[in-house]
Amino acid sequence: MKILITGASGMVGRALVEALLQEKHQLLTPSRVEMDCTNKAATLEYFKQHQPDFVYHLAAKVGGIQANVDDPVGFFYDNMQINLNVIHAALASKTKYLLNLGSSCMYPRNRELLREEDLMTGELEPTNDGYAMAKLAGMFFCKYIASEYKLFYKTMIPCNLYGEYDHFGTSRAHLIAAIIHKLHMAKTTAAPSVDIWGDGQARREFMHVADLVAALVKALKDYAAMPMIMNVGLGYDYSVNEYYQIAAKIINYTGQFTHDLSRPVGMQKKLVDIHKAKQWGWTPKISIEEGIARVYTREWS
Ligand SMILES: NC(=O)c1ccc[n+]([C@@H]2O[C@H](COP(=O)([O-])OP(=O)(O)OC[C@H]3O[C@@H](n4cnc5c(N)ncnc54)[C@H](OP(=O)(O)O)[C@@H]3O)[C@@H](O)[C@H]2O)c1
Repeated sequence: MKILITGASGMVGRALVEALLQEKHQLLTPSRVEMDCTNKAATLEYFKQHQPDFVYHLAAKVGGIQANVDDPVGFFYDNMQINLNVIHAALASKTKYLLNLGSSCMYPRNRELLREEDLMTGELEPTNDGYAMAKLAGMFFCKYIASEYKLFYKTMIPCNLYGEYDHFGTSRAHLIAAIIHKLHMAKTTAAPSVDIWGDGQARREFMHVADLVAALVKALKDYAAMPMIMNVGLGYDYSVNEYYQIAAKIINYTGQFTHDLSRPVGMQKKLVDIHKAKQWGWTPKISIEEGIARVYTREWS
């Protein structure tokens, strides 16, 4: 098959490309220069020229809480354009299969468990609702196309991710990348303490990117059986304080933790229900301890 991966240079994209290189497919991995997905004409032209059979749509403007709070316009507008242009170009070039990547930010805030049927049943988390709205638009666009044109356009919704090629030490960093970077720097500078944003009691689910990639690769072989909208995640969560403690052990940072209560913390809890993914035949395999050790060894040791 001719497989197009948008966002192939990102954390998920690089891990997916590495995995797909083991399989006998032709991969199309355009950079932003070759296909700027915010540019409708350029995106249509790329699809017209290359006519992919299967699209993994991963490209997005992605960032942590502060980046989302600082630029809601950019997170909404860029991601709306990216999603509409890519999914529309796939339809226009008669691509039969498209797997759109959502995000658990699409769910209503502060629910005990995020089930696929809970989408659009409550208020979004205000610290990233622009990003979430654009992700929801992409999901609905796929649903409409699947129903009207009988094409296989589906959405997989991962929990928070971390992994190799994450954005360490930048404003784009998510929690685990930020923790690894902060603790490594604190260890190397012998800093006596490290600041945690908020009281550290908010709970988060973080999955190593290789577990997501296993689901993405399985989708290639088992797409018909995959639900139209499906969560993937670890199925359990930890508090922010617990992530710091786990990472400190792996990195061997022995200083203290303090709490900066002026910082934004987002939702109190964000745990996705993965029973549909399990029924489909996928389960996550990498524990948080193993995952953080893998990332730290590869990126920092
Ligand atoms: N990271 C997470 O915790 C997480 C959790 C749930 C879902 N997701 C979803 O997973 C997908 C991949 O995320 P990631 O963590 O791999 O993000 P990432 O590392 O920031 O990668 C984003 C990718 O999108 C590309 N991109 C951004 N704007 C573009 C544009 N206008 N035209 C073409 N390409 C563009 C980037 O290209 P450049 O290299 O040129 O910037 C990069 O390849 C996203 O859809 C994200 O919403 C991520």
